[in-house]
Amino acid sequence: MTDSMKAVVLARFGGADALELRDHSVPPVEPRQVRVRVHATAVNPLDCQIRRGDYADDVPLPAIIGHDVSGVIEEVGSHVTEFRVGDAVYYTPRIFGGPGSYAEQHVADVDLVGRKPENLGHLEAASLTLVGGTAWEALVTRARLTVGETILIHGGAGGVGTVAIQIARAIGARVITTARAGDHELVRSLGADAAIDFTSTNDVDAVAEWTRGKGVDVVLDTIGGDTLTRSPLVLADFGRVVSIVDITRPQNLIEAWGRNAAYHFVFTRQNRGKLDALTALVERGLVKPVIGATLPLARMGEAHELLENGRSHELRGKIAIDVAGDTVALPPRVS
Ligand SMILES: NC(=O)c1ccc[n+]([C@@H]2O[C@H](COP(=O)([O-])OP(=O)(O)OC[C@H]3O[C@@H](n4cnc5c(N)ncnc54)[C@H](OP(=O)(O)O)[C@@H]3O)[C@@H](O)[C@H]2O)c1
Repeated sequence: MTDSMKAVVLARFGGADALELRDHSVPPVEPRQVRVRVHATAVNPLDCQIRRGDYADDVPLPAIIGHDVSGVIEEVGSHVTEFRVGDAVYYTPRIFGGPGSYAEQHVADVDLVGRKPENLGHLEAASLTLVGGTAWEALVTRARLTVGETILIHGGAGGVGTVAIQIARAIGARVITTARAGDHELVRSLGADAAIDFTSTNDVDAVAEWTRGKGVDVVLDTIGGDTLTRSPLVLADFGRVVSIVDITRPQNLIEAWGRNAAYHFVFTRQNRGKLDALTALVERGLVKPVIGATLPLARMGEAHELLENGRSHELRGKIAIDVAGDTVALPPRVS
C-alpha cells in the first residue's frame, strides 16, 4: 500500500490561490471502508463556497475538499463484502465528514460507494455523482415527479440542471428550463421542451403562455435569491417547489398559500441507493453527463476560477478534473 499521495489542500480560506498541491498521507482503511485510486473528480459551487470560508465552522483547516470521485478500489476493509479490489466505483464523499476528493487516493465508507456505470469513463462518472445525486433526490425522492407532469428547471445549462432535465425527461415529464439563449440548443438536446432566456424574458409570463395559464406541477430552484418567492407565480394548484439553494434572507411565501403549494428543501445526502438508480438511467442511455472543461489536479485553482467566472469562457455543464492522467490532451491555460 502507498502511504503518501498528491492532494490539493485548502491551506486557508480565500481565493483560488488558497489551494495548494502537496504530498499528503493516505488515511488508514477501517473495517467498513474502501480505499480508492481516484482517476477523476469534478468541481462544484460548494467547493468554491467552502474555499471562500462560507462553511468555516464545518471545515477545519488544512483540508482536502472535493465532492466527486470516480476510480478503482485498491483496498477493502475487513468487513466489506460488496466490493473487491479492482472494482470501478463512483461516489460523493461524505459532505463535511472528512477528507474530500481532490487527491490521488480517497478512503470512503462503503455504504456511500456505487458501481461506476459501465458505459462511462472516469471523467464522465466523476462529473455525475454530486449533481446527479442531488437532481435524483430533488425530482424523484422529494418532488415525486411523475409521467405527464410539467416541471420548470432553473439553470438548465448548469451542473445540476443538465442532469435534472434528462431525469425529468426519462420520467416522462414535460420540461421547461431557464438558460441563456446561447445554451438553448444544449438544453433542448438534453430533452427540454421549452427554454426561457433568463437574461431577457420574464419566466412567469413565459410559463403562463407555454402552459396556457395552468402553471407547472414542479419547480426546481437551483438559483436562490427571490426564486422561492416567485415560484408560486408559475405553479399550478397543489404544485411542489424544490430548492437546493441556501436561503440568505427572509422570503414572503404568501402566494404559495393560495396555491396549496408544498416546499421541499434539499441538502443532498450521500448513499449508494441513488447512485444505483442513476447508473440504471445512464446505462440505458437516458442520462449522460455534460462536461464543459477538463483540467489536471495540479490546475485546481484554475478550475475554481473557471467555475466562478464560467460565462466569460462559455462554460456549460461540469468541470472535470483528470487526477490519474487518463486524458491525452488537456486545454491550454486560461489567462
Ligand atoms: N442543496 C444541495 O444539496 C446542492 C447540491 C448541488 C448544488 N447545489 C447548489 O445549487 C446551485 C447550482 O449548482 P450547479 O452545480 O448546477 O451550479 P453551476 O454548474 O454553476 O450552474 C448554475 C447554472 O445556473 C445558471 N444561472 C445563473 N443565473 C441564473 C438565473 N438567474 N436563471 C437561470 N439560470 C441561471 C448559470 O448560467 P450562466 O453560467 O450562464 O450564468 C449556470 O448554467 C449552486 O448554488 C450549488 O451550490 C446545492
